[in-house]
Amino acid sequence: GKGAAMVTAVAYRLAAQNAERQRILDTMCLSREQLLEVKRRMSEEMVRGLSKQTHEQASVKMLPAYVRSTPDGTEHGDFLALDLGGSSFRVLLVQVQSGQRHKAKMQQKIYSIPQETMQGTGEELFDHIVDCIAAFLEYMGMKGASLPLGFTFSFPCHQSRLDQGILLKWTKGFKASGCEGHDVILLLKDAVRRRQEFDLNFVAVVNDTVGTMMTCGYEDPKCEVGLIVGTGTNACYMEEMSNIELVEGNEGRMSINMEWGAFGDNGELDDFCTRFDHIVDDSSNNPGKQRYEKMISGMYLGEIVRNVLIDFTSKGLLFRGKLSERLKTWGIFATKFLSQIESDRLAMRQIRSILQHLGLTSSTIDDSVLVKEVCSVVARRAAQLCGAGLAAVVDRMRENRNLNQFSVTVGVDGTLYKTHPHFSSIMQETLQDLAPQCQVTFQKSEDGSGKGAALITAVACRIKSEGQH
Ligand code: GLC
Repeated sequence: GKGAAMVTAVAYRLAAQNAERQRILDTMCLSREQLLEVKRRMSEEMVRGLSKQTHEQASVKMLPAYVRSTPDGTEHGDFLALDLGGSSFRVLLVQVQSGQRHKAKMQQKIYSIPQETMQGTGEELFDHIVDCIAAFLEYMGMKGASLPLGFTFSFPCHQSRLDQGILLKWTKGFKASGCEGHDVILLLKDAVRRRQEFDLNFVAVVNDTVGTMMTCGYEDPKCEVGLIVGTGTNACYMEEMSNIELVEGNEGRMSINMEWGAFGDNGELDDFCTRFDHIVDDSSNNPGKQRYEKMISGMYLGEIVRNVLIDFTSKGLLFRGKLSERLKTWGIFATKFLSQIESDRLAMRQIRSILQHLGLTSSTIDDSVLVKEVCSVVARRAAQLCGAGLAAVVDRMRENRNLNQFSVTVGVDGTLYKTHPHFSSIMQETLQDLAPQCQVTFQKSEDGSGKGAALITAVACRIKSEGQH
């Protein structure tokens, strides 16, 4: 009768909604073949970035980072380190003692960089940095000492020596004017000069990936890869000098800052992108740039999730079809919420309270289930893409060395990697599957980028003083 027909209609509508949800989620799932293709394209881009002829056009810049030697344990002294480019700006004093590998002592202070300063003029930004250094030196009672300084500056820089770094392009929401195309050491020196209060002895510009690799390498000589999955994502590794066409010489190896976040900027990822990736890219600071990073790192994953939720809501599949102002707000899903929502210990009702806390009046348990599923699909894809990129890196290193089996350690840092409950295991699974001839160990770095800059500075000082004797 009529009742049965109504039940059938409801069942039919539910089935159709389910199918629609699944169809959208499926666009964000990558098959093994697709991941292998990502790996293959990444290897290709690495070759293009290293070669002189194709370097200009290559999306993955493969920047020589002028770090060749790892610490040998005889380094010693006090070093200053600056760390700019993650979620905060830090000034550190690192005391390195020879023969005491595990005991580099550190003191640090964290300073905030206001949004206006990040997006104002370069002078304002660097004056602010120097203010922070001054405050730190004051606090430590070290104003007179001109210690050797390493600057972890986590943006793509062209280097032709260790103490120079020409900023190619801002990434990750930084936008200060008048910096691109300039040597950041000179910008910093100018700011120090303007202040006329103290001198600094600049020794090294260091990418956070390289700092992380060095810090882990201090304890584990097999660490020849650095990986960051935080606000942004990037990797570095030791490449044969003979393959680095941008640097003279064929002996030994040098670290390469890949700047892999820009993979995809020539369309290499178009086959795998969804409508949501395009929306996130279009509404970013740097449309068309850092496409791989925008599918992987903490600054963007929450935005992908938010846009999927908006779509589901407007199709009536979520939040009873009601689009709240909150959900329309850029950036509400910080990395920490993604990590929390996916935590296995949480019951659905706790997820509901997280959503409520975010101002999303998720009214049903079904909503919470779906939100969790969206978070999980987006994070899984990120981890798999990252694993595919890493597979290209370690397989290249293995081939460089003519090995059948290759075992290597990857030093890792970044909040997403460290706090997300599943990211690292999915990434490792993918890596193992796509590069079965490599045995890869992951080593979380404790504060790698700051300490790494100090260690690199320490090595440079050691080598310099050896040269003088
Ligand atoms: C961005 C930067 C890169 C950095 C990474 C992680 O991709 O361009 O230099 O290593 O973020 O912080």
